[in-house]
Amino acid sequence: MDRNIGLEAVRLTEAAAIASARLMGRGDEKAADQAAVDAMRRAFNDLHIRGTVVIGEGERDEAPMLYIGEKVGKGDATDPEVDIALDPLEGTTITATGGPNALSVIAMADKGNLLNAPDTYMDKLAVGPAAKGSIDLDKSPAQNLRAIADRKGVYVDDLTVIILNRPRHEKLIAEVRATGARIKLIGDGDVSAAIATCFPETGVDVLMGIGGAPEGVIAAAAIRCMGGDMQGRLKPRNEKEIERAKKMGIKEVNKLFELEELAAGHVIFAATGVTSGDFLRGVRFFKGGSETHSVVMRSKSRTVRYLQSRHQFDHKPNYG
Ligand code: FBP
Repeated sequence: MDRNIGLEAVRLTEAAAIASARLMGRGDEKAADQAAVDAMRRAFNDLHIRGTVVIGEGERDEAPMLYIGEKVGKGDATDPEVDIALDPLEGTTITATGGPNALSVIAMADKGNLLNAPDTYMDKLAVGPAAKGSIDLDKSPAQNLRAIADRKGVYVDDLTVIILNRPRHEKLIAEVRATGARIKLIGDGDVSAAIATCFPETGVDVLMGIGGAPEGVIAAAAIRCMGGDMQGRLKPRNEKEIERAKKMGIKEVNKLFELEELAAGHVIFAATGVTSGDFLRGVRFFKGGSETHSVVMRSKSRTVRYLQSRHQFDHKPNYG
């Protein structure tokens, strides 16, 4: 996969972020999401790839655009063939309420390298590079926090764990509190939370708990690019979701997926901030244009590039 695709990919997340940021705080999750999907879909038409969406907006019958299996990009014979995991707006409620850490995200990998995760839940455990190799989803939260603290050379009390604030996490939160570790409870956005573990300046050490499975694959792609670590296990809610997982090629639904099983090979990841957050600033509008803040990364080189872009709408009518 060509290194230049990374800089091309960011055009997609920029377009989606600008479109959805326009609707920040309007209380309309659906409209914000739709704006992001439309903008990203349009931007794909200029991209020199032969792409297949493997993690997208849903099944073909439930999502008219960016559905699983959709072919995207210019599709010239010489364009690289890539699998794509995307979320044009990760944090629809965050955007609708003007909260922190909404992102537009995309990951690309050589064909067959991203887990085709069904739209169910996933139990996730993610850490940054400094704790790589110390996590085990089969162990208790206390055992994991002990191992992470030892690897980082800090006390467990010094660790900050980020957890989605959900009733299903009552027991997990109590167990983490009992260890003395600090907790950051978030309303939404566990892709941003997983990535935050890889940026020391965020002060976040670990992501624990159950969130969306598609978001798990996207987060894994980003973490691969930064040298962090992650494990995931599907948490289907019913028989239908188990069947769905099997149909998508997952033989053992209970399997613990290591990082490289979630996102393998050469991976490219791009994200643009929709609202300001731990590592990206949100979209800012000014007369006739906007400014976006994005990050682009590649697993091969582990280069992490920040891009601050100014867009002039009279020269980019699609962005306005
Ligand atoms: P959306 O952008 O689709 O609203 O997802 C936000 C999110 O918080 C994800 O980050 C997370 O993985 C998932 O929802 C958790 O799902 P639930 O809200 O059902 O607990």
